Amino acid sequence: MSEQRKLYVRSFGCQMNVYDAQRMTDTLAREGYVETDSPDDADLVILNTCHIREKAAEKVYSELGRLRKAQEEAGRQQMVAVAGCVAQAEGAEIIKRARAVDLVVGPQSYHKLPELLAEAEARRSGKAGARAKLVETEFPVEDKFDFLAPPTREAIGKRGPTAFVTVQEGCDKFCTFCVVPYTRGAEVSRPLAKILDEVIRLADGGVREITLIGQNVNAYHGLDAAGRPANLAELVRRVAEVPGIARVRYTTSHPRDMDEELIAAHRDMPALMPYLHLPVQSGSNRILAAMNRKHDRELFFEIVARVREARPDIAFSSDFIVGFPGESDEDFADTMDLVGRVGFASAFSFKYSPRPGTPAAGMEGQLPEDVKSARIYALQALLDRQKAAFDEACRGRRFDILLEKPGRFPGQLIGRSPYLQSVVVEAPREAIGTLARVEVREVSTKSLSGDILGGEFFAGRPIGETRFIGQSEKLEA
Ligand code: SAH
Ligand code: SF4
Ligand code: F3S
Repeated sequence: MSEQRKLYVRSFGCQMNVYDAQRMTDTLAREGYVETDSPDDADLVILNTCHIREKAAEKVYSELGRLRKAQEEAGRQQMVAVAGCVAQAEGAEIIKRARAVDLVVGPQSYHKLPELLAEAEARRSGKAGARAKLVETEFPVEDKFDFLAPPTREAIGKRGPTAFVTVQEGCDKFCTFCVVPYTRGAEVSRPLAKILDEVIRLADGGVREITLIGQNVNAYHGLDAAGRPANLAELVRRVAEVPGIARVRYTTSHPRDMDEELIAAHRDMPALMPYLHLPVQSGSNRILAAMNRKHDRELFFEIVARVREARPDIAFSSDFIVGFPGESDEDFADTMDLVGRVGFASAFSFKYSPRPGTPAAGMEGQLPEDVKSARIYALQALLDRQKAAFDEACRGRRFDILLEKPGRFPGQLIGRSPYLQSVVVEAPREAIGTLARVEVREVSTKSLSGDILGGEFFAGRPIGETRFIGQSEKLEA
C-alpha cells in the first residue's frame, strides 16, 4: 500500500451513481485513499456525473470551473477525474472544455481506476512523455463488479443501516427521450450468488435494509446456481432471507416488467416495503407511444390495481415528463387525469429536455419553455397536494421505522417509514440500526414525528432475532 492520500467524490444523478461512488471509494481505499468531505483538502477529486437532462449535464462544467478557480487561488496540485454518464457520453469533449480534468472514465471501467490514475499521474508529471489526457469510455468484456473492491466493515458501518446494491445495469428499452441506453449500455444482470454474497457482507456489517437498484430493476434475470435465470421476485425473497435484513426495496421499475410473481411478492413478503416507485412519464396514450414506453395508460391502471389488491397498504411514487414534443393541452390533461385517478404518495416531475443522440430530440413539435413551465407548475401543485394528503393521513398511524441517524437536536433520531418518509423520534444513539414501532404524532412538509411504542432496541432483544412486523398486521404495542 502506498502513502495515504485524500479522496473527494461528488455524485450527481441517480442511485446507481451513489452505489458506484461507494465502489470506487472502496477500490481506491486499497490504494491508500481515504475519503474526505471537502474538495479543498483532496488529492483526488472524482465528479460522478449525470447526463439525463441538460441541466444535470451542465452542472459538471460549473463544478469543474469552481474547482479550477479554487485550485488556482490556493496554488493546489490536485488530480481531477470525471466519471459517470457525462464521461461516457461526452468523453474527450470534457477535456477540451475543462483543462482541470486529468482523467475521464466511463461507468463500465471503474475497476480500472487504480491503473488509470497511475497512468494519468504519469502523464501529468510528464514522466510518460506525452501530455495527452486520458479518456477511458470503452465497454470492456469483463464484468467490473468482479474486480471492484467490496466495502470494509468500517466503511459499511459509516454508511449506516441502509444500503443500495446494484443488481442490474443498462437498459434495452430505448425510450425516445432517454440517454441511459447509450450511457450505461445494454441491460446486464448480476448473478444471484454474487448479489447474495454482497448482501450477507453488508448485513454482517450491520445493514438492515437493502434497496436493489437498476435502471430497469424488474427486468432482472441474473443466473442462479443452476445456471437458470432468476427473476426479481426470487431475488427479493433470497435477500429477505439473509439474517439481519429486515427490509427490502427495489428501484427503478418499468410498468412492462411488473410480472405476476413480483406482484405476488408484495402480498407474501412482509419485508418487501409497501412502497413502489413506478415511473409512468405521461398519462396520454399518444405521448406514451411517441415516447416508446411500450405500454398505455390502461396497462398502468391495471398494474396499480393489481398491486393494490395484493398489498392494500401500498403507496406509489412515479416520474413524469411534461412538454414532450407534440404534447397538446389534451395530452397534458390526460397526465393530470392519470395522477388524479392513481393518487401518488410522492413523485418526481421534469420538463422535457432534448438530449443529443436521442430520437425525441429530432422530433417535430418541440414545445416552448413557457408551455413546459406552466405545465410543470400545474402538475407539481397537484402532486404536492397528493403528497401532503398522504402524509396527513399517516397522522395517528402506527408503523415500524428503521432508525438511521442522529436528528438535529440531542436525543433525537431520524428513521424512515415504510414509505421512505423521514420520521423524527426521541431515542438514544444506540438504537440506530434497529426497528422501532412508532405512532405518528405530527406531520410537516419535510418529515413526520412520533412516539416510540416499542421495538427491537426497546424490547432489549438483539438485532436479527426480531422479525419485521408488517405494517398491515396492525400490531398493538
Ligand atoms: N429507468 C427509469 C428512469 C431513469 S431516468 C424508467 O424507466 O423510468 C429517471 C427519470 O428522468 C425518468 O423516469 C424520466 O422521468 C426523467 N428523464 C429521462 N430523460 C429525460 C429527458 N430527456 N427530459 C426530462 N426528463 C427525463
Ligand atoms: Fe431510460 Fe426508458 Fe430505459 Fe428508463 S426504461 S432507463 S426511461 S430508456
Ligand atoms: Fe443520470 Fe446516468 Fe443515472 S444519466 S440518472 S447518472 S444512469
